Parts: sequence; structure tokens; C-alpha cells
Amino acid sequence: MTRDKLTAYIHTWGCQMNVRDSEHIKGILKGEGYDISDTPEGASLVVLNTCSIREKAEQKFLSELGRLSLQKKKHPELKIAVSGCIAQQQGRALLKSHPSVDFSFGPQNIFGLKEFLYDENRTAFTKENYEAEDEKLQTPHRDNDLRAWVNIMYGCNNYCSYCVVPYTRGRERSRPFEHIITEIRDLAGIGYKEITLLGQNVNSYNGGCTFPELLTMISNIEGILRIRFITSHPKDLTVQLASTIGETKKICNHIHLPVQSGSSSVLARMNRKYTYEEYFCKIQLLRKHVPDIAITTDIIAGFPGETDSDHKETVRALKEIEFDGIFAFKYSQRPNTKATGMEHQLSDSIKSQRLAEILTVSDTITERINKSLEGRCFEVMTEGKNETNSENKWFGRTTSNKIVSFLPGENTERGRVVMVKIIEGFKHSLEGELVV
Ligand code: 5AD
Ligand code: SF4
Repeated sequence: MTRDKLTAYIHTWGCQMNVRDSEHIKGILKGEGYDISDTPEGASLVVLNTCSIREKAEQKFLSELGRLSLQKKKHPELKIAVSGCIAQQQGRALLKSHPSVDFSFGPQNIFGLKEFLYDENRTAFTKENYEAEDEKLQTPHRDNDLRAWVNIMYGCNNYCSYCVVPYTRGRERSRPFEHIITEIRDLAGIGYKEITLLGQNVNSYNGGCTFPELLTMISNIEGILRIRFITSHPKDLTVQLASTIGETKKICNHIHLPVQSGSSSVLARMNRKYTYEEYFCKIQLLRKHVPDIAITTDIIAGFPGETDSDHKETVRALKEIEFDGIFAFKYSQRPNTKATGMEHQLSDSIKSQRLAEILTVSDTITERINKSLEGRCFEVMTEGKNETNSENKWFGRTTSNKIVSFLPGENTERGRVVMVKIIEGFKHSLEGELVV
């Protein structure tokens, strides 16, 4: 079953941080002579890059591992490695409970992969805050040749009471700004047009300058047309950041600002360090400095002890703020986190009911906002053919991160910014036509 050449398949679950980690994993494996395959069939090495943010993500990983373990019975030469947050959290226990796994490594150990590959001892590599020098950590492999992810910091110090991230990704560490600027200059030099800066809490960046200062420096790099960043924590969002977004054309007019709940008492138990009223003030600040800014958020439905009236406050907040889009999740108990041990855990049916209501309310708002864009013109960066339609349409994104489909013109090409007039707004996308 193995091909003549070494071939690796990487399966990625979870956030953009994991997506970028997988690019690093692919880069290291390519350096060791592996071809990267899009399917597990015929691969000599499979890396399962896991997420443990909610139980559902963990279940998906376990079912994929079960399937691969059966394959390995038939083809014992297949190597299985587990990386990411589950690998970090479970350490050796994962190797004990799953004999088919050859080795595992946490997100803070990726850059040791070159050595782990040749380890014969079934080891779990999960040293905390173990990273070699920052500039040596970057690998050239990227899945996309137009839009690049760039880590600006790792880890998280916030300890929201529901969240495993501080336990799996360690303490907050910022990359020195000189390394970030060099990386982005190099990306611009090979044709990248859009950069998304990655960190669990980019607003608390402190790698030798503030986050707004870093944004300004990046905006001076020739060739880069658009700058995005995720994720921002409301408590660290400053006037300086809002005004920098407003004043700097290259910074996209979109922010993902997770609110989690509209109830201040739930927010206090979540250890979010802001009240709903304070969050709302930050929204007003953003809208004052960037009038057209698109705001998206994350919501958790059914946090322990959440009452009906807390839930109603969340629904009210959705209506008051009118987010452009939301990601909403049922609360999921995670190991080691404070909320796992809290009293009054809610039943799955209450969580499902509340989640459904949150999604219905928010979908209606998103659709209304998208409809209100009909007739307006926006700059769209062309990304490629829209494979989901039969009319030969292309797609791209507005700076507010909305996907627009349109029929191409003579000069339509990947990476070009064109003007598109919105013809119809839907819940999840926009239809437009080129303005020439
Ligand atoms: N249960 C449900 N959702 C969670 N998130 C993080 N931890 C949990 C959990 N235990 C959500 C938060 C966060 C997003 C990335 O995932 O909304 O912002
Ligand atoms: Fe998790 Fe909170 Fe850190 Fe985000 S800020 S990664 S939700 S602990």
C-alpha cells in the first residue's frame, strides 16, 4: 500500500492556529523528503492535528483514529502521529489507550518533529513552552499563495473558565516584531497580497511594540494590500487600536470580537474580565472610528448556571449589537477547566434549545445586513473560480470579509482587487456584478 516515495497526509481540526501549525508540519515533513498528499490512502505517515476546544472535536478525532487503526492492522508499516491540543492534554495516556499511535507531540513541540520522526520509543513530546529560537521556527510551506497566516504570538494567559487553550498552548509569548516584519516582507516579495495575523489575543501583543504599532509597520510594506487579524479580546481593545483600524486603509474593516454572553453575571463566572456594558462601549468605540466595520463574535449557549433571563440577555445583546455573523456553540465541559466543576450544569436539551434560538435570531440579522448592501459597490479581492456554481462565476472577499460571487471580466485574475456591485444579499454570501 505504501507508495515508493515517502508520503504524508495531515488531517487538521480546529482553529486557524491549528491550520497554520499544520502548514509548519507539512513544511518540516517536506524538508525530510515527504510528499504531502490530500488523502490518507497510500500515505506512509498520517498526522492527526487535533483540537480539544469542545467534546465534539475530540469525538471526530477518535472516529478518524479508529478508522486508521483498522487500516494499520492490514498495513503495519503505516505510521500514525497525533499532534495538537489533544496530544498535549493527554500526553502518554493517549499512547497507552491507543496502541496504533506511534508518537504524539503538542503544539509547543512542533519544531522538534524532525527528530520525533526517527524516534523508535513511542514517545509523547509535550514539553511546555518548548520552542527553539523564533526565526528558526518558521517554515516556508503555505497552503494558499495569495493569503498567508502569520503567527504573532503563541499561548494565552486569560484562563476563561470554560477554555482549555491556556493548558494546551501554554503561556502567552509574543514574537519579536523584527521577525514578523521580515517574514511579511518576504511574503510580499513572493506575491502574497493578504496577511492574517494570528494569536489567541492579538491586542495584548508585546513583542517590542504595541499591536497598533505593529499594524502600522506592516501597512508600510509594499505589495501587501490587506491586513487581517484574529482573535481580539474585548478587555484589551484600545482607542489606539480602533483609530489605527479607521486610519489605515490596508487594515480590513472587520473585527472578530468574541462576546460569549450578553449577561454580565455569566461573563463574570466565565472570567472574561468585562461586563456586557463595557463590551457594548467597545462596539460603540469601534463604530465611531470605523463606521462601516463588520463585527463578528462567538457565543456560548448554556454555560453552567445560565438562567433563562441570562439567555434572554444574550438574545437581547444580539439584537442590540447586530453582528454581521456569529459562531455559536453549546457549552462543553473540558478537562482541567474551572467551569467543569461548577454547579448547575445544564442539560443537553436546554443547551440545544438556547443555541437554536441564538442561531435563528442571528441568521435573521445577518441576512438583513447582507440585504442592506444590495446596490452598493465594494472592493473585492478576487480569489478564484467559485466551484460551487455552474455559471462560471468567480468569488472574492470584501474587506469586511464577506464572500461575493460574480461573473468574471476580461481582466479578472487571482489576487486583483476589483469593484463589485452587490445585486443580492443572502444569509451566507453575496451575489454581485463587476463594475467597469
Ligand atoms: N464550550 C463551548 N465553546 C467553547 N469555546 C471555547 N471553549 C468552549 C467550551 N468549553 C468557544 C468560545 C471561543 C471559541 C473559539 O470556542 O466561544 O471563543
Ligand atoms: Fe480561551 Fe479565553 Fe484564551 Fe480565548 S482568551 S483562548 S477563550 S482562555
